[in-house]
Amino acid sequence: DALAKITLTENAALPAAKFLKIRDISPAIANTRVHIKGWIHHVRSQRKIAFIELRDGTGFLQCVLQGDLVHPSIVDDLKREATVSLIGTLTLPPADKHCPQGVELQVDYWKLIGASHLDLEGIINIDSNVDQMLDQRHIVLRGSRASSIMKLRSITMKAFRDHYFENGYYEVSPPTLVNTFCEGGSELFTLDYFGQPAYLTQSSQLYLETMIPVAGDVFCMAQSYRAELSKTRRHLAEFTHLEAECPFITFEDLLDRIEYLVCDVAERIFKIDKDLLLSVNPNAKVPKRPFKRMDYADGIKYVREHNIYKDEATKTHFEFGDDIPEAAERKMNDQIGEPIFFCRFPAEMKAFYMARCPEDNTLTESTDLLMPGVGEIVGGSMRISDYTQLMDAYKKEGLDPSQYYWFTDQRKYGTTPHGGYGLGVERFLTWFLGEEHIRNVCLYPRYRERCQP
Ligand code: 4AD
Repeated sequence: DALAKITLTENAALPAAKFLKIRDISPAIANTRVHIKGWIHHVRSQRKIAFIELRDGTGFLQCVLQGDLVHPSIVDDLKREATVSLIGTLTLPPADKHCPQGVELQVDYWKLIGASHLDLEGIINIDSNVDQMLDQRHIVLRGSRASSIMKLRSITMKAFRDHYFENGYYEVSPPTLVNTFCEGGSELFTLDYFGQPAYLTQSSQLYLETMIPVAGDVFCMAQSYRAELSKTRRHLAEFTHLEAECPFITFEDLLDRIEYLVCDVAERIFKIDKDLLLSVNPNAKVPKRPFKRMDYADGIKYVREHNIYKDEATKTHFEFGDDIPEAAERKMNDQIGEPIFFCRFPAEMKAFYMARCPEDNTLTESTDLLMPGVGEIVGGSMRISDYTQLMDAYKKEGLDPSQYYWFTDQRKYGTTPHGGYGLGVERFLTWFLGEEHIRNVCLYPRYRERCQP
């Protein structure tokens, strides 16, 4: 038989408690009475005392409950993930005890806000496999590591925006329902748009290009979609795409801007919350500038000379003109062990809009930024600025120019050399946070076999 629950009453003689978020708690306010609400992150109950680690999204607080507060008739309400309201006095812990905010809460009164069900341990535990964890992603997110990563993701997006705003860029909000393609047709998600075919965007680049005569340097951070068939640790079907477009620059300027972006944002993340960053990745570092720059042609030479094969089984070498696939590219990148601007790809391998190199018309002014451990995190190029060249490019690609009239018009009314790039926010995070798999930096990852929760 369940015990009849006792009713706790707050002692009216005690000083009034101030309601605070955990982030506002520190040794500076030790010996004051405070009121905190949050989720029970962890609980350890003994016969007459319970230790709770409370989480409210802003931090963690160690709380101690004794006496009637842990009466057998109510102690079972203090379950993992239950929401509670706690009132008590902050005390300095013994010197040898580590407490997240530097103080602990000696609770004198508490109330249950929302109960937690018993079955939580059964939903996920250390034996759960990746798919079980992803099915319960909403619960996993409450864990210390996943929640830290989500907070760092927010900090990173702020750092990107701050970088752009402080360097005079405007932010643009492009549509993601589109009727043209940017990066080739094979990876498009097609949908029915009021009876007409439309796509989910792969890149907002073409729209950004129309904004440079309007606002000069521009950027956007929008969702992009790729119907990627391959399931790898760096490919998603939906990702956050950070893209920028800049008028009146050269290819060298473009590389400098990407390098500046990556290093400046890494530095900003350190400045905003170094402790949180290092708690997730103790090896996080701002990369050294300048980045190594390597032409595609030299990359082919490199892999040929370093026993990286197009086909391992038959020891077949790569030839100029071959696409270097992910695994081989990563091998090269990991051997070199530093960021690499991989530059000047042959035109046939790259998107239709890329400008040719002045010194060799078969090559493009293009770059992929490769990071050790992850591979490509940025793809960018100078764009074709000449009307006739663009019309030729449509033809070669088999595109109907009438759909692209608005993009072509940029070359008709005041064209300029310009360039831009796209950075995969999840790729950046996977690299900077030292994560093994890209899905760990997504809220609810989307890839071929997963569209839920
Ligand atoms: O190299 P991509 O395909 O380039 C473009 O889309 C250009 N239009 C961008 C531009 O110049 N404005 O993609 C750019 C970046 C990649 O370097 C990668 O970081 C990320 O987008 N990306 C993906 N991230 C996760 N999953 C995928 N399936 C991705 N595809 C591209």
